[in-house]
Amino acid sequence: MCPIFSDNSRMNAALEKPPAARAAPPAWAPPPASLQLDFLGMKFASPIVLLSGCVGFGEEYTRVAGFSNRDVGAICLKGTTGKARLGNKPHRVFETPMGMLNAIGLQNPGVDVVVREILPTLDFSETRFIANASGSTIEEYIEVVSKFDDSPIDAIEINISCPNVKEGGVQFGNSPEMSARVVEACRKVTKKPLITKLSPNQTDIQLNARLCIEAGTNGLAVINTMTGMAIDTRTGKPVIGNRQGGLSGPAIKPIALLKTAQVAEVARPHGVPIIGQGGIVCANDAIEFLLAGATAVGVGTALFYDPLVCPKINRGIAEYLAARGHASLAALAAQ
Ligand SMILES: Cc1cc2nc3c(=O)[nH]c(=O)nc-3n(C[C@H](O)[C@H](O)[C@H](O)COP(=O)(O)O)c2cc1C
Repeated sequence: MCPIFSDNSRMNAALEKPPAARAAPPAWAPPPASLQLDFLGMKFASPIVLLSGCVGFGEEYTRVAGFSNRDVGAICLKGTTGKARLGNKPHRVFETPMGMLNAIGLQNPGVDVVVREILPTLDFSETRFIANASGSTIEEYIEVVSKFDDSPIDAIEINISCPNVKEGGVQFGNSPEMSARVVEACRKVTKKPLITKLSPNQTDIQLNARLCIEAGTNGLAVINTMTGMAIDTRTGKPVIGNRQGGLSGPAIKPIALLKTAQVAEVARPHGVPIIGQGGIVCANDAIEFLLAGATAVGVGTALFYDPLVCPKINRGIAEYLAARGHASLAALAAQ
């Protein structure tokens, strides 16, 4: 059974516990061998991918006792643009029933700083690292992807689905033709694996996936956040400074699961793997996405509630495989 995602009272109750009362994290053990997989030529220790924007530049949770980057197959870094961006005015996040709204606005120090100062601090022996390339114009995507191509990063995710910036982002991602133009342009400037992150805020995600595959993407990430809004009834104004934000967490899981299944129908014949994501908080959620056709599964918002959720998800998936006599995730995919 999945834990129910927090409401405010549950979150607050957890935070109010005095530190001494919290149990010490269990001794670290590597993910079970049955969870290892090959994703676009990268060796993943687990199908879990930590999602862009939820783990900073890979350092965010390493300060939490019991957390290890080695528990996951890969980590997607925060969305990175050509120049530094300060992001949106506050409020940038707001907890909603079974999820949260965010409108960070792609705050990041710019690709040159990420490549020159941040990538050298990452420990590539722990996990695979995936850049998240974002932009307002096709030229900016080309600049960011070229600079990551000339770096030790393992793969590049193209974020054409950010709903929180005024220009670019989802403007590209909601048009299949524009999405394909971005992918085609990025494909020309890198030989690294390209993963295109699709928007759920569009009419025909299958057409979008098909055109991105034809334009040369190697993998797909399904889905980014869904646009949403909250209003403060005391002021009559939107809570989020950007007026709208991206909704994530368990509230979007059924939608994300269907989109993953729909995209899998298009991607499977081409051998294009999917990182299924949107609201995964436990092993059962992750298994649903794997059964829907995802090869790997993303965990984002759940980390805010439980930074130590990944080993639990790993354990649950491994137990599920063992109970069905599967020696590997590939056997589950083939069933
Ligand atoms: C605070 C926050 C910041 C995010 N920033 C990015 C980003 O920079 N680039 C991106 O592609 N997705 C970003 N996302 C979307 C997540 O990577 C993920 O696709 C989405 O939240 C759905 O997964 P989840 O429900 O497990 O969080 C962000 C999500 C959150 C909650």
